[in-house]
Amino acid sequence: MTDQTITPRRFSASVPLKGRITIPGDKSISHRALMLSALAVGESRVSGLLEGHDVLATAAAMRAMGADIARRDDGEWRIHGVGVGGLLQPQGALDMGNSGTSTRLLMGLVASHPITATFIGDASLSGRPMGRVIDPLSQMGADIGASPGGRLPLMVRGLAPAIPLSYRLPMASAQVKSAILLAGLNTPGITEVIEPVPTRDHSERMLRGFGADVTVDTDSSGTRHIRIVGEAELKPQTIVVPGDPSSAAFFIVAALIVPGSDITITNVGLNPTRAGLIEVLKAMGGDIELADARDVGGEPVADLRVRHSALKGIEVDPALAPSMIDEFPILFIAAALAQGRTVTTGLDELRVKESDRLAVMATGLKAIGARIEEKDDGLVIEGSGGDPLPGGATVAGHLDHRICMSFAVAGLVSEAPVTIDDIAPIATSFPNFETLLAGLQQ
Ligand code: S3P
Repeated sequence: MTDQTITPRRFSASVPLKGRITIPGDKSISHRALMLSALAVGESRVSGLLEGHDVLATAAAMRAMGADIARRDDGEWRIHGVGVGGLLQPQGALDMGNSGTSTRLLMGLVASHPITATFIGDASLSGRPMGRVIDPLSQMGADIGASPGGRLPLMVRGLAPAIPLSYRLPMASAQVKSAILLAGLNTPGITEVIEPVPTRDHSERMLRGFGADVTVDTDSSGTRHIRIVGEAELKPQTIVVPGDPSSAAFFIVAALIVPGSDITITNVGLNPTRAGLIEVLKAMGGDIELADARDVGGEPVADLRVRHSALKGIEVDPALAPSMIDEFPILFIAAALAQGRTVTTGLDELRVKESDRLAVMATGLKAIGARIEEKDDGLVIEGSGGDPLPGGATVAGHLDHRICMSFAVAGLVSEAPVTIDDIAPIATSFPNFETLLAGLQQ
């Protein structure tokens, strides 16, 4: 999983995008569906699972720790879990590839089991900070030996029984929250995460769905107190994974900025902790219509109709950042085509994603002729007013799927093609991205 062939690709000015697509399953929900199914007693069934490299890394790791995980020919996944407390000692290192979510959540699971696991990953993942999970998991009793700077490769020696913890999140991170809650699953007593800024709540929803005792109280200041009662018994579930709003985002913006476009994206997850981009794009004048709002597997879902629109620049409320944290790279592309200035702030977390997304987006956008100013915690973008960008440059993707897809979309509205040095990382979250794009260009 860490070795991939380097694949450069050119993206050129596009005909109007037309038609109907269904995007793959939600990455965050897919990871959690595999992990919790692997800890339930009995057989769970998961359909709509994202079969991207990140999620497959989680599947391989759960197999290495004893779960029986198989994909049927019809695409449904069947998982026989080992029970909470039942994870087995993995025989080799767990290769997390590019996946921060797999790494941080699995570190949480290992932390309260009597096993030792080594985590390795690609160059991008090996540069990302793990101190944010090492701190709370060490307080719960895990013994963690990391590479300098709290990075991969690292080894987690779990403690069972672990020590319950009450932990206030120092940054808005669903991965840190989830790592602690998952460690709390096999810890006697109550483990609590205090979350001053709400982040995606898929872990809380799904833990409850599997029968864990999880309560969420919001105090008068809006801070969430999430408590899990440990030594839980999880009951197997049938899960339908909704489409990933973070993947839909690339096609939403593509349709808004490619003149003449009119597309429908079906089955898009619209959990309020994930839907910030749609709110921002609508405020910019984007024509996005929701239809057939419904519930899929405990998550709100709708079909989206998106038409080309004259966008205008705005100041993005930093309070929205956690609900669109993965969507800023593609929002910057939308802003580069808008009329006027877009200002984003409060985005320090973007510097520690699969790449430093502020620096990498600023460099790439400048290279293709957009007017950008990089600040410590955000970008300021002067839009083209709908005119195509000059393009005609090669952009470095830095092993970051969302950077690659953002510049692919930029290529669709550029005078000269935009070349991405390596699009292989797209397969971590959106293996059929290019196929769906080609289908809308017929
Ligand atoms: C994720 C949480 C977010 C997000 C990532 C997926 C998750 O990371 O960026 O793509 O599934 O919990 P942080 O917790 O670092 O914000």
